[in-house]
Amino acid sequence: MMIGTAPDVTEAAPTPPQYVPKHIAIIMDGNGRWAKARGLPRAEGHRQGTENLRRIIRACVEFGVEILTIYAFSTENWKRPPLEVRLLMSILETVIQRELRELNDNGVQIRHIGRLDHVPARLQKEIARACEFTRNNNRLILNVAFNYGGRDEIVHAVRRIIAEGIPAEQVSEDLINSYMYTGDLPDPDLIIRTSGELRVSNFLIWQGAYSEYYFTPTYWPDFDKDQLRKAIDEYNRRTRRFGMTDEQMQSG
Ligand code: IPE
Ligand code: IPE
Ligand code: MG
Repeated sequence: MMIGTAPDVTEAAPTPPQYVPKHIAIIMDGNGRWAKARGLPRAEGHRQGTENLRRIIRACVEFGVEILTIYAFSTENWKRPPLEVRLLMSILETVIQRELRELNDNGVQIRHIGRLDHVPARLQKEIARACEFTRNNNRLILNVAFNYGGRDEIVHAVRRIIAEGIPAEQVSEDLINSYMYTGDLPDPDLIIRTSGELRVSNFLIWQGAYSEYYFTPTYWPDFDKDQLRKAIDEYNRRTRRFGMTDEQMQSG
């Protein structure tokens, strides 16, 4: 349990924050509004959002974050205009092609969480290639939530549990957890959502049961390393109790 005094956020210190959450998850929201505010097409917002992702991954590696889970496309995002859906698919494909080598050089292990059905075959192949190519890396695990939905993940888990004939009395929280896409990983410590929306939008609804949430009005393309540091500093000011009392947390 890490509880500490937050470093001074007004000073852009070169050293990483003192207490770094092991697992950070981000709802990268606001690309469209970022573009609209500049009179640009939404596509440009998505492009800038992608550029920003590269900077944030680098910052996470530098800060020593062990797991980064990013929400890139939800099961609900299929409802967007077909042209935008196609664009989001092709952006991920391009990003993998362009960034795979550097991500690999930085020790990033890429994983996909979500469903691959309905995803274009070419993109499925690229995702599989990226995961395979980086599978022995261990500096940062990057979970890419693409065609991901928290409810869908739970449905999928329940179906597998039933299909495997697991008896009802063996179904426990630990067992269900092991059927989640992130079954071998700790829950996110900190979940960040950019763009000012105060909702979860079906992201990690099982895993986020005790996560700390951080909401910022900043649109995703503008959410930089200093803002990430600010979110981590804020995390350091929180007291996580997991149902217990302050006194218990201090003695434990
Ligand atoms: C987040 O930005 C990216 C995805 C959901 C894929 P949005 O596209 O949702 O941007 P806004 O919310 O319309 O500004
Ligand atoms: C959540 O953002 C999904 C991703 C960031 C990929 P949305 O922009 O789709 O969420 P809603 O529709 O505003 O809840
Ligand atoms: Mg949005």
